[in-house]
Amino acid sequence: MIKLLIILIKLTSTLCWIHDAKVIDADLIENNILPVNYFFVQFNNVYGLNITHLTAVDQNLFQFSIKSNKCKRISSEKIYTGDGLFIIRFKVFEKCHNIEIDLKFRGRNLKNSPLCIKSIYPENCNCPRNLKKIQNSMKCGATYEQIKEDLKPFEKINFTELKTYAKKNFQDSRHSSVCNYVIKENKVFRKCYGKYVGFKMFMDSILLSLTRKAILPDVEFFINLGDWPLIKKSAKNGEKFPMFSWCGSQETFDIVIPTYDLTESTLNMQYRVVLDILSVQKEKYHWNDKINKAFFRGRDSRRERLDLVTLAKQFPQLFNSSITNFFFYTDEIDTYGPKSSHISFFDFFEYKYQINVDGTVAAYRFPYLLAGNSAVLKQDSQYYEHFYRHLKPFVHYIPFNRDPKIDLVEKVKWLKENENEAKKITKASTQFVRDNLLPRNTFCYFFSVLEKFADKIVSKIEVDNDMELVSDDKNIECSCKNL
Ligand SMILES: *[C@@H]1O[C@H](CO)[C@@H](O)[C@H](O)[C@H]1NC(C)=O
Ligand SMILES: *[C@@H]1O[C@H](CO)[C@@H](O)[C@H](O)[C@H]1NC(C)=O
Ligand SMILES: *[C@@H]1O[C@H](CO)[C@@H](O)[C@H](O)[C@H]1NC(C)=O
Repeated sequence: MIKLLIILIKLTSTLCWIHDAKVIDADLIENNILPVNYFFVQFNNVYGLNITHLTAVDQNLFQFSIKSNKCKRISSEKIYTGDGLFIIRFKVFEKCHNIEIDLKFRGRNLKNSPLCIKSIYPENCNCPRNLKKIQNSMKCGATYEQIKEDLKPFEKINFTELKTYAKKNFQDSRHSSVCNYVIKENKVFRKCYGKYVGFKMFMDSILLSLTRKAILPDVEFFINLGDWPLIKKSAKNGEKFPMFSWCGSQETFDIVIPTYDLTESTLNMQYRVVLDILSVQKEKYHWNDKINKAFFRGRDSRRERLDLVTLAKQFPQLFNSSITNFFFYTDEIDTYGPKSSHISFFDFFEYKYQINVDGTVAAYRFPYLLAGNSAVLKQDSQYYEHFYRHLKPFVHYIPFNRDPKIDLVEKVKWLKENENEAKKITKASTQFVRDNLLPRNTFCYFFSVLEKFADKIVSKIEVDNDMELVSDDKNIECSCKNL
């Protein structure tokens, strides 16, 4: 009897006993020039099953080090995401050879350690390669439903005609901020229309980054730098203009590309930005220690955001929501204010449930909310980003009515009463991010949309005299011959 008990105890303890770890996606590092190199390390027990909990002590007992005989400067980081999973990421600033990554737990090498990588190129190496080859080495998916759908209305794209239309409609308009880009022989050119075109810097930097990595097909396009999608389906003249936008809507024809926010944080990871799609996966608060309420912070860019303040007053046991800045409804500060003090985005996740409400258009924080370890409640909306199509309500997030007064209380109550469902949704949304929104996925999407769009252009792609070369002063000389 006692023997049996001992066996049973031994058996259950080996179930959570850390045995080894699987290294995932390290093969993607070799041959890719990404702003940040990253891979995953998943700890498992002796049966190969994932460990779901690591104590803070165990997290520290996992150590990694990166060696390279030539490379002086490598900045690296270990991110514990919960569930026995780490993200290891590192940024190089010059070309590095014979990199060796040691992965140790309690001082002992893990099974796959050390990882050996022949060479790593920094983001600003100018080493464009065959596009198909890059797409393969980044394991880009073959097709994107959203791109297919967005390009459907456009049979043959003729820029000779479109430019005439653009000159007439965007040239002197105070309301438009539109740029025309041409990529020819892998060089980037642009001309902008309108007064407020500062956001062109985001498009410049992603296009330059893409052309450093791949030889893009010659292509031309217009991008709308403003918040709202531009090309109305209901327009009387029926003018279907193929316009790239960060945000799409059910009432417009705009072709969506990853938002400037996601793109910029991808390009400047471990550098100029703190919040990005990898860093936000850090488990700062364990689920059991979180506050059992729904959380919202944001500026007053939409009436429904004010409603969240009212709900928090009525149901303080369900909500903690407030406005961080008044800009649109300054005359209502007495009712909905005062504005709350700054809170770091990473501390949003001290709360089990996160509320996503549109701003002027889709709230571009949505990818980061999905990536964090809280369950997301999302307002119904006609606005979408490039990845929304693959999200499933009640699987990746909990939907609520456009008017939060209608069912948000009920939805939060449901989550609180069904915590296991909430946890499941949290895991599913994080997994969705790992499958669709990591840095390489963002590059893949841009490659694909430009490639598919180029296929539809019938006019000759030429650089007009009034176009400006977008030059890349960040490029460094790298010998690319090993690639
Ligand atoms: C184990 O972890 C890996 C990496 O996080 C994940 O892809 C896989 O689905 C997990 N397996 C199970 C059975 O949960
Ligand atoms: C709401 O959240 C903030 C940030 O976590 C906290 O400082 C504040 O005390 C909370 N308010 C209430 C009423 O719980
Ligand atoms: C594009 O449009 C212009 C102006 O309407 C026309 O002259 C030209 O033939 C068109 N090009 C193609 C390839 O259809």
